[in-house]
Amino acid sequence: MDSNFDVIVIGSGPAGYVCAIRSAQLGMKTACVEMGKTLGGTCLNVGCIPSKSLLNSSEMYHKAQKEFNNLGIEIGEVKLNLSKMMNSKNKSVLTLTKGIEFLFKKNKITHLKGKGSISTKNTVTVTDSSRKETKYKTKNIVIAAGSVSTPLPGIKVDEKTIVSSTGAISFEKVPKELIVIGAGYIGLELSSVWKRLGSNVTVIEFLDHIIPGMDRDISNEFQKILNKQGINFKLNSKVTTVNVVKNKAVVDFTDNKSTKRERIECDKVLVAVGRKANIDDNISKSGIQLDDQKKIKVNEKFETSIKNIYAIGDVINKGPMLAHKAEDEGIAVAEIIAGQAGHVNYDVIPAVIYTSPEVAMVGKTEDQLKKENIEYKVGKFPFLANSRAKVNNETEGFVKIIADKKTDKVLGVSMISTVAGTLIAELALAMEFGASSEDIARTCHAHPTHSEAVKEAALAVDKRPIHF
Ligand code: NAI
Repeated sequence: MDSNFDVIVIGSGPAGYVCAIRSAQLGMKTACVEMGKTLGGTCLNVGCIPSKSLLNSSEMYHKAQKEFNNLGIEIGEVKLNLSKMMNSKNKSVLTLTKGIEFLFKKNKITHLKGKGSISTKNTVTVTDSSRKETKYKTKNIVIAAGSVSTPLPGIKVDEKTIVSSTGAISFEKVPKELIVIGAGYIGLELSSVWKRLGSNVTVIEFLDHIIPGMDRDISNEFQKILNKQGINFKLNSKVTTVNVVKNKAVVDFTDNKSTKRERIECDKVLVAVGRKANIDDNISKSGIQLDDQKKIKVNEKFETSIKNIYAIGDVINKGPMLAHKAEDEGIAVAEIIAGQAGHVNYDVIPAVIYTSPEVAMVGKTEDQLKKENIEYKVGKFPFLANSRAKVNNETEGFVKIIADKKTDKVLGVSMISTVAGTLIAELALAMEFGASSEDIARTCHAHPTHSEAVKEAALAVDKRPIHF
């Protein structure tokens, strides 16, 4: 045994690294095991961060090409240098992963390099790249091992022609034809990137609508917007096979209703049909109980079926698989281990799709409220009637606030806007404080800003919007 720790965190994604920092802040001797080359997990290395870099650069490219001229900005021929764009993305990723290294040093967290496995309830074994095993003793273990892409039966991801999101953020050239399987978060964000960079993109989705789980009004409007941007959709369709023939992919799919079969040939296929908990053999054999979705079962204190072993983030059966949910759980579990009252409010977790415009929601959708037999009222306000959106040529989308019919308490908010991901924070805060739509309506919002559409939607709940 090399050392005695209070907490060893397995995994350094948003759940793990945040948990390690909070544990150290609370005076616990902390280590974090990571088998990747850099800290930060999927989110920083191959997920949220690199995809947002590409979303930003590709949007700039698109604007320079299609919109600058209309604003009186004449810049001549706009050329894409994809490898430079990728380098800029890689640089951002490196800076941020180095940032976590710095935070670990600052907080005196031991970074254990290698694959962590649980040997006993108080021992973590770390196997490094030369297969050397070292055992570390600890009072508490936190599993924050994250998630991996869900495979589609019979379709082999080779990260060259058939790719997961990891491959799709590193194409060496712009695919002429890109097929995306799954119209969820990853599918739509990466469709946007490659469409803007010049691909012909078709999204094949099993359900009859895109972004399941979001409000239906939003999903319908968002599909229209993406259609206008030139992204094609095949809804209600099931991909049956994908074959790679001479560096091309042949995608076969069937219409769920008519059972009509279709075939599309393309250069690349992105499989984005969800993610599943990263449960390896070690966890499976450790005696830690899993649920029927193969996620780790935890109680309200994030404790697994084995005392002093906790789990957080994408590996557990709570809340959506989102980085910010994982971060909050990281803080909560560290506080619980330290004897404090850590807590995550699962009713108020915002979700954002970082396309252009962005889509964001927090709380419940109309469908959910109907299912739960909760009576509600709705206020909607379009960005077409918002002065700032109008001068910026960003008039697509709307804000929709749903409030309890009797108490007026805000139950859910959904929106489409160029700045929806930022605006949603106000609504999350309002909901956290139990605000009514009247509270939002009576809060002074700066003019001219997109945020006035939030105030107007709140006024619209009581049928008294000013500008619509
Ligand atoms: P997702 O769960 O968001 O969407 C997957 C989509 O694939 C669904 O619409 C589903 O109906 C469809 N699908 C499933 N099987 C299919 C089949 N056989 N044929 C056609 N369509 C099929 O999953 P996604 O986009 O892979 O994202 C994975 C996770 O990563 C999500 O849980 C999401 O929360 C997270 N994420 C979050 C982001 C954000 O916060 N902006 C960005 C990227 C990922």
